[in-house]
Amino acid sequence: EAQDASSGPSLGFNAVPVSSTDTIVVPDGYEARVIYRWGDAISGDFPAFAPDNSGEDQAHQAGMHHDGMHFFPIEGDSPWQGSSTDGFLVMNHEYIETRFLHYAVTQGSEISSWGTPDHAGPRPADHVLKELNAHGVSVVRMRADANGNWRVVADPRNRRITGLTRMEIAGPARGHAKMATFYSPDGTHTRGTLSNCAHGVTPWNTYMAAEENWSGYFVNTDGEMPREHARYGVRPDVSRHNWHLADDGGDGYVRFDASTKADAPAGDYRNEPNMFGWMTEIDPFDPDSTPVKRTTLGRFAHEGVVFAPAEAGQPVVCYSGDDSRFEYIYKFVSDGAYQPGVTRGDILDTGTLYVARFNDDGSGEWLPLVYGQNGLDESNGFTDQGDVLINTRTAADIVGATPMDRPEWGAVDPETRAVYFTLTNNTRRTADQVDAANPRADNAFGSIIRWNEADGDQASTRFNWDIFVLAGPEGDSRDVNGAPLDQDAIFAAPDGLWFDADRRLWIQCDISDSALNSGVYTPFGNNKMLAANPDTGEIRRFLTGPVGCEITGVVTTPDQRTMFINVQHPGANTSEAGFAAANFDSHWPDGGRTLPRSATVAIRRLDGGKIGA
Ligand code: FEO
Ligand code: CA
Ligand code: CA
Ligand code: CA
Repeated sequence: EAQDASSGPSLGFNAVPVSSTDTIVVPDGYEARVIYRWGDAISGDFPAFAPDNSGEDQAHQAGMHHDGMHFFPIEGDSPWQGSSTDGFLVMNHEYIETRFLHYAVTQGSEISSWGTPDHAGPRPADHVLKELNAHGVSVVRMRADANGNWRVVADPRNRRITGLTRMEIAGPARGHAKMATFYSPDGTHTRGTLSNCAHGVTPWNTYMAAEENWSGYFVNTDGEMPREHARYGVRPDVSRHNWHLADDGGDGYVRFDASTKADAPAGDYRNEPNMFGWMTEIDPFDPDSTPVKRTTLGRFAHEGVVFAPAEAGQPVVCYSGDDSRFEYIYKFVSDGAYQPGVTRGDILDTGTLYVARFNDDGSGEWLPLVYGQNGLDESNGFTDQGDVLINTRTAADIVGATPMDRPEWGAVDPETRAVYFTLTNNTRRTADQVDAANPRADNAFGSIIRWNEADGDQASTRFNWDIFVLAGPEGDSRDVNGAPLDQDAIFAAPDGLWFDADRRLWIQCDISDSALNSGVYTPFGNNKMLAANPDTGEIRRFLTGPVGCEITGVVTTPDQRTMFINVQHPGANTSEAGFAAANFDSHWPDGGRTLPRSATVAIRRLDGGKIGA
């Protein structure tokens, strides 16, 4: 249905063209500056970046592969109000590029040649340490000077959370037999967060880090794997980076080998994969706080979590996607009522997790994942609510959720409360598997779906949905008015999604680095960010990134005068031959023949105005 073209937020900039250059491009009248790169020290006392930094050095530096991110105004008590020149940037470091971590041979800051990666045998202990420390989350205070230059401030609250940080387990899976490990035989604690893709910001001013593609870090050679491993893709033979071949410390047990050991006491690492797939809550203002895995929000390839605006006296409601082909979208509704200034993270420990069914007639239902209901009982192998949550995907299969085309980020319209989700792509969907919500077979380009909860009640179990945009080239795309996207608007593989305070919907793209600028993706160039007007459906390209990267992590300061975005994995599509010859296709951001580095970028308008307006 066509909408009033005069309504909604302004898009007051000229679109930038598609690009395949190794740089950031922003509209005329804007500037973009790199402020926080992989390896930058989180405080002045810590080691500066060098290609041969140790594993211990890496624990005090920015991790790799920056992703979801929020700006917490300093001394603020709200996630969206307070200083616009001083605050904590908190961001995820999703995964790593081991070639960059260990094998560059440099002269000064430039690459001169390339060592031979060797991941086949037992892994060097310091390599594994550096890899674990390059994952996780950064909490780093940043301040802008009068010229808008953002710099790290040495604050004792700056910290890195890594694959080794002590964590608490909360909610129904706490203390469950399937959560017991050598590290915590009573199943109440664990170590580390990994594969932190997108994030969430709670109404009580804390940060949630999602755990997405963690299953690849484990092996289980048992032959018959438990479903809490198999349903998530844990493999019987190989693990990413071969951490299962790390030094065993002499006791025969390796954390990332989840196989059952002969004669092992209860509590070996057979349950270690069950420590991942959760949302982890971090308080950026308390450096002594222990991060908490909130198991009530379910266990899957969590892309992130987005909270609906919280209202006093109403339940807390949040949404989360499981980013894998044919996986689901979830919603959590707390039992407790939100009380501003009082409510803390434990409100997330009791409530109901639902999974979405999208009917072909545009209606939808939220199906509860509650032990004892809808077949989630002993007849399907469930013993209690903790077990339902540890096996969230299996529970969702049983209740009849709608398999989606890889749900990524969600965003909630701050005014209408409509919920938007990116469905990034799914080239494995066949013609006989399409439905109204996932209407394309061999879906290379992705879409954005949206819904309104019934009766304006965010906690309702019914909703009405439509498709906001089918992404794609001019000849194979459709905006909300049914028109094809024009050259200023074409995009593919939407991933990051965020509403600014004026209701501008920011859309970020993640065409796989192995597919960028080739085949069906040729028209789109490098990955990019666009802005949309949710009322008119207009979309316009705002930024293009360097070679091989994805664009992710978007937030502004409260005054909307600075926008922060992340550039993840520049140079990721450098071939093995290119590596061997030290012939990279990206040297962003430092230029010359330097290593490409994921980095945070601060964007501002030269006239000091609001970003995008
Ligand atoms: Fe890590 Fe789903 O993007
Ligand atoms: Ca993502
Ligand atoms: Ca993605
Ligand atoms: Ca990516």
